[in-house]
Amino acid sequence: MPPAIAIAGLTKRYDAGANSVLAVNEIDLEVAEGELFGLLGPNGAGKSTTIGICTTRVMPTAGRVRVAEIDVVADPPRARAEMGVVTQFRALDRSLTCWENLYYHARYFGMGAAAARARAGELLEQFRLADRARTLPDRLSGGMAQRLQIARAVCHRPRVLFLDEPTAGLDPQSRIAVWDLVRELRAGGMTVLLTTHYIEEAERLCDRVAIIDHGRILICDTPAQLKRQAGAGVVMHLRVARAAPELAERLRALAGVSGVEPIEQGFRVFAADRDGLAPAAAAAAQDFGLEDIALAEPSLETVFIRLTGRELRE
Ligand SMILES: Nc1ncnc2c1ncn2[C@@H]1O[C@H](COP(=O)(O)OP(=O)(O)O)[C@@H](O)[C@H]1O
Ligand SMILES: [Mg+2]
Repeated sequence: MPPAIAIAGLTKRYDAGANSVLAVNEIDLEVAEGELFGLLGPNGAGKSTTIGICTTRVMPTAGRVRVAEIDVVADPPRARAEMGVVTQFRALDRSLTCWENLYYHARYFGMGAAAARARAGELLEQFRLADRARTLPDRLSGGMAQRLQIARAVCHRPRVLFLDEPTAGLDPQSRIAVWDLVRELRAGGMTVLLTTHYIEEAERLCDRVAIIDHGRILICDTPAQLKRQAGAGVVMHLRVARAAPELAERLRALAGVSGVEPIEQGFRVFAADRDGLAPAAAAAAQDFGLEDIALAEPSLETVFIRLTGRELRE
């Protein structure tokens, strides 16, 4: 089966007078039909630009994108009919009720009045907004407004759904409600490409994740496989009064340690497993004023740090 989204050699340079920004730098990516795919990266990584090009809102400098086998630059209207989009900046019609937002969207995509009415009602049910049919968007909570955005985006039953930071700024409970809805859509056969800067969202929600930084895809795989590739079963943070290079050497020599990096007031240590690690590190750090040792499971954060030397969350 051909991929639902095929991105090849995609490049975007924004030219602002003397300043030019290479926002997307030769990205290649394929998202399979029915896949829930995440683009994970920090602010400014190029996520929104990539989604903007896929959804015909931004013109690429080079490369091409096919959504449901349609070239988005060559045939934007036909491509748009196959996709639902929720942009990073929410765009509900504030003068229309929840029901009307859905109804007019359905009409815009060519449904007759009766079909559009039925579809709006069905979506309000599906997205747990049935009791808000007559409410204006400004009166909705952040989580509800986001559910309405997604409902509207899938109103015309697109094959592919693009969600740019779908849970940014939502409280944890609303975030989980959005995850559940996205999972339901995927279970119904929809392909989903979402962007996020939340590690947990990429890790827990997505089938596959591409980590993006400075417009480049650094790595792409399932969350489990990405963590395995990080080459660490455990990550230890060691805080000391005196973070001397000599201590780094001692830590590096411990059994099972695959990497040591300086952090503020100490070191981050990657190791194969936790057995005996903390006591051995504590002994090694004794002469350096040991203050604290913390062990953690590796996460996609670990993968990001290993690839870039920086932390993803700021
Ligand atoms: N319209 C624009 N004009 C100029 N630069 C832009 C524009 N949009 C984004 N950029 C720049 O491109 C880079 C990538 O931005 P963006 O795609 O929004 O990243 P993300 O969504 O990952 O935060 C950033 O350096 C940003 O400042
Ligand atoms: Mg963005």
